[in-house]
Amino acid sequence: MAKKTPRALVAGNWKMNGTKTSLREVRLLVSMLKGVRLKCDVMICPPATLLTKVRDLTRSSRVITGGQDCHASESGAHTGDLSAEMFADAGAGAVIVGHSERRADHGEANGDVRAKATAALRAGLTAIVCVGETHDERKSGATLRVISAQVKGSLPEGASADNTIIAYEPVWAIGTGLTATADEVAQVHRHIRKRLSALVGEEQGSRMRILYGGSVKPGNAAELMAVANVNGALVGGASLKAADFIGIIKAYT
Ligand code: PGA
Repeated sequence: MAKKTPRALVAGNWKMNGTKTSLREVRLLVSMLKGVRLKCDVMICPPATLLTKVRDLTRSSRVITGGQDCHASESGAHTGDLSAEMFADAGAGAVIVGHSERRADHGEANGDVRAKATAALRAGLTAIVCVGETHDERKSGATLRVISAQVKGSLPEGASADNTIIAYEPVWAIGTGLTATADEVAQVHRHIRKRLSALVGEEQGSRMRILYGGSVKPGNAAELMAVANVNGALVGGASLKAADFIGIIKAYT
């Protein structure tokens, strides 16, 4: 029997961008998606301040919402942090963890990412676990080794194809306008697929979604999304405008 390919996901990571005026882009996206036969899931991960508002605006559509980063604990004395349970309560279906900006700006190591991803599953959220090599690591030929260590070290306890998504985002391609070539993406995604099969078993590993992220735009989405083992995109800058984001989503129509 032919293997079923996982349903693709195009997720927008707004990062620390967006105020109430940005909600018009969400309204626009919802109206643009009306009547479109989607072959992928669509997600918006706004800043936490807008999450319930985005959830309200997308409730009647197929757009799902996600959070950005969570604390490993359920609650407690952690000023400024948000728990996975809080994101679930606000209507999120997923949370992004281990983004390279968190790893770099907040010194998060694989063990921290694993704890956060495990918290996401505890709260009933899907964990979107980011991995990716720096420019220096790629130049020195360490890419696959780095990715192996990140995947192994960051996967949550109890990871399955239904509750965990990997996002491969080469650090040097994030927000730079540089993208990995189709061959580079194919090599790393194939490697991640193999590692997942070894870690969670062939069946789950073959169904777990692996997104590509890093300067995905309407103009390069079709080529990148056609690469083997690419099951969608994690989109930063180009997710902020509905017109750009829909251009990427349309790679799947
Ligand atoms: P970018 O960001 O699309 O702006 O490069 C992607 C990401 O960091 O998720």
